[in-house]
Amino acid sequence: MSGKPRILIVGAYGQVGRELQRSFSDAGEITLRDRDTVDLAQADEVRAMVRDAAPDVILNAAAYTAVDRAEAEPEMAMAVNERAPRILAEEALRTGALLVHYSTDYVFDGSKTSPWVETDKPNPLNVYGTSKLAGEAAIQKAGGKYLIFRTSWVYGPHGSNYLLTMLRLGRERESLKIVDDQIGAPTTSIELADATRAIVSGVLAGQFGDLSNWAGLYHMTSSGAVSWCGFARAIFERAGDLLDGKMPVVHPILSSEYPVAAKRPQNSVISNEKLRARFGVQLSPWEAALDAVLLRLKADRPGL
Ligand SMILES: NC(=O)c1ccc[n+]([C@@H]2O[C@H](COP(=O)([O-])OP(=O)(O)OC[C@H]3O[C@@H](n4cnc5c(N)ncnc54)[C@H](OP(=O)(O)O)[C@@H]3O)[C@@H](O)[C@H]2O)c1
Repeated sequence: MSGKPRILIVGAYGQVGRELQRSFSDAGEITLRDRDTVDLAQADEVRAMVRDAAPDVILNAAAYTAVDRAEAEPEMAMAVNERAPRILAEEALRTGALLVHYSTDYVFDGSKTSPWVETDKPNPLNVYGTSKLAGEAAIQKAGGKYLIFRTSWVYGPHGSNYLLTMLRLGRERESLKIVDDQIGAPTTSIELADATRAIVSGVLAGQFGDLSNWAGLYHMTSSGAVSWCGFARAIFERAGDLLDGKMPVVHPILSSEYPVAAKRPQNSVISNEKLRARFGVQLSPWEAALDAVLLRLKADRPGL
């Protein structure tokens, strides 16, 4: 490719989208799209968006991510999580663009006792997982230059996420009951974006050889594992000033004691070995990544 690539970021103001904006800010000519400029549930709008931007790289950070609401809105979840990525893949194939897409640990049913690998059989327990799996399949069927990164338990300095919710609840409540029988790897939007930048830059520079060497599906999470309850405790232990001097007591409970619309997998831990072997990329242990986000919050939003 001669000159700087044209990069289209879809879902540019979601958690991952915002960090992709930061990470790719000097990587090329950037076009940002989010709900105020495109409705991804409208097929013609998705196609027109790509044709107008004529990108060399599409970074799709958009998704219908409301896991419980999806149980009541399966058509909307499928439109955004299956049809929109399918159209992105078709358009990318037509022009030779690279499509980067994110998927989820929720494609698995959580029954395995060791980390899930890319070749394990998915069996989603909920509508969100089903729609995301369908999106993966649509991209894979189209073929071409694509990278799908399955990640888990995403949080960061912006948006609606577990860390920011816990910091708010931690300031408001004396005690909290938190699910302790689901384990996963909390993963920051910051590291996802930076790892994506490193891999995309390498692909564009020809560092990973031809398509057959790098295109495909990869797991991309922080290393290590923790339950939601353990994650909350770690947040409270490390948050310092962000809790205004409060320290809530955390009581572990079972998933069955916290009824929600969508069933979640018990073991959400996914192996990153393929990512490391293919690209030499490895995200931090989740504790170190948490410290980095807390540092950013303390620096950027002292009055949080
Ligand atoms: N969050 C997690 O824990 C998690 C875990 C595993 C995988 N992932 C995957 O990681 C990726 C990034 O997730 P995230 O946490 O950054 O999600 P997010 O913060 O919810 O951002 C998603 C973005 O998509 C936009 N969007 C949704 N429906 C749309 C529509 N019909 N038209 C236009 N824009 C629409 C949202 O806009 P609005 O804000 O206006 O709705 C939002 O800006 C997704 O593929 C997700 O499935 C996330």
